[in-house]
Amino acid sequence: MPTTLHCTQLKPTDTDALVSYLLLLSDVTKKRFAPHLFTAKAVEEILSSHQYAAFAVKDETAKRILAYAVVHFGVAQDEVPRFAGYGLEIHQQTDCMYAPSVADEWQGKGMGSLLLQFICDALIEEGKKRIFLWGGVQTGNTKALHFYSNRGFQVLGTFEYKGSNTDMLLELTIGQRTL
Ligand SMILES: CC(C)(COP(=O)(O)OP(=O)(O)OC[C@H]1O[C@@H](n2cnc3c(N)ncnc32)[C@H](O)[C@@H]1OP(=O)(O)O)[C@@H](O)C(=O)NCCC(=O)NCCS
Repeated sequence: MPTTLHCTQLKPTDTDALVSYLLLLSDVTKKRFAPHLFTAKAVEEILSSHQYAAFAVKDETAKRILAYAVVHFGVAQDEVPRFAGYGLEIHQQTDCMYAPSVADEWQGKGMGSLLLQFICDALIEEGKKRIFLWGGVQTGNTKALHFYSNRGFQVLGTFEYKGSNTDMLLELTIGQRTL
């Protein structure tokens, strides 16, 4: 593991590094992680907008992003009916949605866990209370399902969109450890 590795919140100046990271993801990972387009314009918008917060594990020596996760503050309108259908009241001020990814060669080495803990700490600090998976997780993505379950996410239910997907929710508590 690189010694210069650290978690950080990305800024608009990270646009090129993030686009490079996204374009290098394998087709398999891209099929599982697609919260937004991977164009420079779309990435810059994510990094500039107050609607989102983008987080990464960076290797400062190699000047490379090794893992990236994006948080959407509040629940997007197209996801509200589904979450409400589980009998949940949506709180736009304190709910958020999250979608994680790790560079293919770094998957299964603790990067996703490290970044999730960093994100939980940052969101708790901001007064956020719940994290929904953004767009759910493909039910066949057993690796990700185990990842979420082992870190406190609860299954809400499933829905059909290009196959079966599972909605999951993490309730944030002060001092929460997901590692
Ligand atoms: C899902 C993802 C973010 C997890 O990050 P990661 O860095 O690989 O995960 P970590 O190394 O921190 O943790 C590994 C966990 O994954 C699970 N896992 C790893 N390899 C696995 C495998 N072959 N089968 C089942 N579970 C596996 C385990 O539950 C393990 O958790 P444990 O430590 O509790 O046993 C990452 O693998 C990824 O980017 N996958 C491709 C894109 C994707 O699926 N994104 C999610 C979209 S919803």
